[in-house]
Amino acid sequence: MVDSRFGQWLKLVVSLLLLLKTQGLYVGITYVKSAVAKGAVCLDGSPPAYHWDKGFGTGINSWLIHFEGGGWCNNVTNCLSRKKTHLGSSKLMGQQIAFSGIMNNKRPFNPDFYNWNRVKIRYCDGSSFTGDVQAVNPATNLHFRGARIWLAVIEDLLPKGLKNAENALLSGCSAGGLASILHCDSFRSLLPMGTTVKCLSDAGYFINVRDVSGAPHVQTYFNEIVSLHGSAKNLPLSCTSTLKPSFCFFPQYVAPQVRTPLFILNAAYDSWQIRNILAPGNADPLGVWKSCKLDINNCSPLQLKAMQDFRLRFLIALNKATNSSSGGLYIDSCYAHCQTETQEKWFMADSPMLGKMKIAKAVGDWFYDRSPFHKIDCPYPCNPSCQNSGLAPPDNSEKKPLNGSAESAENEQIIVWITHANGSDVGMIRISL
Ligand SMILES: *[C@@H]1O[C@H](CO)[C@@H](O)[C@H](O)[C@H]1NC(C)=O
Ligand SMILES: *[C@@H]1O[C@H](CO)[C@@H](O)[C@H](O)[C@H]1NC(C)=O
Ligand SMILES: *[C@@H]1O[C@H](CO)[C@@H](O)[C@H](O)[C@H]1NC(C)=O
Ligand SMILES: *[C@@H]1O[C@H](CO)[C@@H](O)[C@H](O)[C@H]1NC(C)=O
Repeated sequence: MVDSRFGQWLKLVVSLLLLLKTQGLYVGITYVKSAVAKGAVCLDGSPPAYHWDKGFGTGINSWLIHFEGGGWCNNVTNCLSRKKTHLGSSKLMGQQIAFSGIMNNKRPFNPDFYNWNRVKIRYCDGSSFTGDVQAVNPATNLHFRGARIWLAVIEDLLPKGLKNAENALLSGCSAGGLASILHCDSFRSLLPMGTTVKCLSDAGYFINVRDVSGAPHVQTYFNEIVSLHGSAKNLPLSCTSTLKPSFCFFPQYVAPQVRTPLFILNAAYDSWQIRNILAPGNADPLGVWKSCKLDINNCSPLQLKAMQDFRLRFLIALNKATNSSSGGLYIDSCYAHCQTETQEKWFMADSPMLGKMKIAKAVGDWFYDRSPFHKIDCPYPCNPSCQNSGLAPPDNSEKKPLNGSAESAENEQIIVWITHANGSDVGMIRISL
């Protein structure tokens, strides 16, 4: 009796350890060297790059193309600093990055996309892949070529199998979520007619509102990005034909004209937007927003009112944008930014829910036409499934030295899926590091 129980326990521990070892998925980098001749380069002139984990089984002809996020640079000073980081130079990118959430290769963590070809395009241009300025100032050696990078990466992937895609989903988070809206129809046009093509924007729906001091801060900021990077000619013509180019960097003026099915996933209280659009540092010289921006539980009634007002403006900005039957909408009331790449938010036992639906399920059902999803959460604090730390995932989870320890796709936790010896899932445990 004791022996057999001990044997079962041992089996569980062994399989646990095995799972621990294989849980984290790190995917190596591919530099697109041929892009350099086309002038499709990072801010510092280095080649663009992506990480590709090949599809398998039924996913072999399906492709998820995901844009990395990481803000923008809006003037030469900013771009020069950025050039010295992995967000401006492929020379400084980690050789391997963690794939989790929508990039995860395990079915229990990512039920609909786990076996697709999953590509993460590295972000090193600072313009959400829209820039294209031919001239390079020798004094700064800054290259503004984001749109060329986008094309060069797709051209590199087409012969590697993308040209045979049955299914293709263009996604991205934050500045990458914006890129997936701006390039959605362009992606459709680059793929064969027979491919099912859809786009998913995660935390990319940046809205045009005044900040708490009344200044049009984000409008000025986006205008600077668009003019510095020469983005105008690469923004959707359906928008630039009627509006000033800098407006066409805002999803609310672009999304209504996007013809490819588009799913907007965003927190109504997007923590990046609250911190940088509603209450940016220069609109709050006394720092009264500081602790509220860190944790929504610290916000004063007045600050909460400003955030509720922000939510209403957000919902107005969504307007008709995503009301087509082919599109999708998942607007939760969490204090969050980016919910697809973080395993915890994408698909775990206690992940956020909206209408009893987790994000991974809503997106999968929409992509495969199993059921549409258009839902807007009730206002904060009505949703108990929100985790509300407001912490964005790190810009980039570079591989850390391992020294024999377990790999983890999450930064501070190892998540282990426990499988019974007969193959059925028992559950998962989380080990904090
Ligand atoms: C560049 O942009 C940043 C952020 O908007 C701003 O703080 C800074 O003053 C600008 N620098 C110059 C030289 O314009
Ligand atoms: C969305 O479309 C439906 C019917 O197509 C309409 O009843 C509804 O009012 C629309 N919602 C918005 C926000 O435009
Ligand atoms: C392992 O740790 C040691 C010291 O803690 C360090 O010197 C070494 O570089 C690490 N190895 C790797 C592969 O990171
Ligand atoms: C596997 O074993 C567990 C525990 O004995 C049981 O609850 C479950 O139904 C089994 N699953 C299958 C597929 O046999």
